[in-house]
Amino acid sequence: MRRIPGAAAAIGAVLILCTSVQASVRAPGAAVATRSADIPSEQLLERRLNRAARMTVRSRARVHRLRLKAVKRRPPAPVAPVPAPVVGLTAPRRSIPLGSSVVLKHLRDDAAYEAALSREFVQLTPENELKMNRVQPEQGRFEFAEVDALVDYASTRGKTVRGHTLIFGKETPAWVGRILLAGDVEAALRAHVRAVMSRYKGRIREWDVVNEALETNGTFRHNAWFDKLGERYVEIAFAEARATDPGARLFYNEFNAETNNFKRASELNLVRKLRAKGLLDGVGLQLHTAINGYPTRSELEETMRLFADAGLEVQVTEMDVIAKGDAAPGSLTARLDLQASVFKGAADACQAVAACTRFTVWGVTDRYSWMGAEEIPLLLDGSYTAKPALAAVRAALSA
Ligand code: G3I
Repeated sequence: MRRIPGAAAAIGAVLILCTSVQASVRAPGAAVATRSADIPSEQLLERRLNRAARMTVRSRARVHRLRLKAVKRRPPAPVAPVPAPVVGLTAPRRSIPLGSSVVLKHLRDDAAYEAALSREFVQLTPENELKMNRVQPEQGRFEFAEVDALVDYASTRGKTVRGHTLIFGKETPAWVGRILLAGDVEAALRAHVRAVMSRYKGRIREWDVVNEALETNGTFRHNAWFDKLGERYVEIAFAEARATDPGARLFYNEFNAETNNFKRASELNLVRKLRAKGLLDGVGLQLHTAINGYPTRSELEETMRLFADAGLEVQVTEMDVIAKGDAAPGSLTARLDLQASVFKGAADACQAVAACTRFTVWGVTDRYSWMGAEEIPLLLDGSYTAKPALAAVRAALSA
C-alpha cells in the first residue's frame, strides 16, 4: 500500500479496510457504488460504513471495530481554536482604555472613592476579591458575594472587569498545601478554575489565569501547585480556563519582567509554549516601579514588541510609581513631574505597539495604595486631586 502522510493515511487505511469488509460481507445482488471523484473521502467513508452497518450482526461488530480504529488514528483535536494574533507592529494611534484596581470595601465606604473610580476609569480589576484564598477559603466552599458585587457595580456603570487572578501561588489557601496526592491537587486546581470562570462567563472576558509563576532568576516559584505538579500546573490552569470559557481572553501576568532580564527570558519561553498550544492570548506587564529606578519607554517598547512578536496581546496591568521623598531628591513638584514622565513613558510605549490594548494602574488613589499612602504612587492623590501623571497618561493613551 502506498504511504499517505498524516490524517490522510488514517482515512485512506480505513477506506481500504472498509472496502474489503464490504466486499466480504456484501449481500448477494447488492450494488456496489462507484467511487466518484466528487465525493469527499470522509463522506465516502461514512457512506460505506453506513451501508456496511445495515448488514449482518457479525459484520456490524467488525464495522464497530473499524470505527474505533479510525477514531484512534484521528489526530487529536486542538483544545480550542487559536484566536487570531494581534497583527502589525506599527500602531495607528488609538484610544487605549484606562483601568484601575478596585477594592470593594472602599467602594462601599468612601463616596469620593466611588466617584473618582466612576469618573476616571473604564475598566476595573478586583485587587484581592477574586484571589483563591478569598473565593475558596475552604475546599468546596466558594465565597462569591464580593466579586458579584464588583461585577454588578461594573455593569451598572458600563465598565469592564479584568479577572485577577485564578491561580496565584502566593494567595493560595492553606488547604491546597495539605492535599497529599498530585492527582487531587490537579483536580482541585481544575475545579477552582472551572467554578470561578463559569460563574462569570460572559461578564468577565479577560483573565489573569496564572499570576507570578517565576522567580527573578527565571526558575519557577515554589508554591502549593508547583511543589506537587511541577511546571505543568501552569499549562493545566490555562487548558482548564480555555475549556471552561473559550470566548475569554487568557493572560499570564508577571512583575519585574518588563526589561531585558532572566525573568523576561524565562517568561518568553513559557508564553511561547502556551501560545503554540492555543492556550494563551496575552501577557500582563505589571509595572510596579519608582522614580529612582524605572524601565524607560524604549525598554518597555522592546519588551512589548517581543511579546507581540510571539503573537500575544500585551497589557499594562498594575502600574504604580513610587515618588516619595526618599525615593529621589527634589521638591514634591519635581518628583510628581518625574512620576508623570515615568507613567507617560509606559503609556507612550503602549500607544506605539499595536498589541498593547489596555493600561491599568494599581489603585484609584494614593490614600489606599497597597504600598502605603506615603509612597504617593498613583494618578490621584489622597484627596482625589488629579496629579500631573493623570493628564500625562490620558494624553498618551488618547487617539
Ligand atoms: O483582608 C484583611 C483584612 O481583613 C485585615 O484587616 C487587613 C489587616 O492588614 O489585612 C487584610 O488583608 C490584606 C489585603 O491585602 C487587603 O488589604 C492582606 O493582609 C494583604 O496581604 C493584601 O495585600 C495584597 C497583595 O496583593 C497580596 O495579595 C494587596 O492589597 C494587593 O494590592 C496586592 O496586589 C498584588 C497583585 O495581586 C499581584 N501583583 C502584585 C500586586 C502588589 O503586591
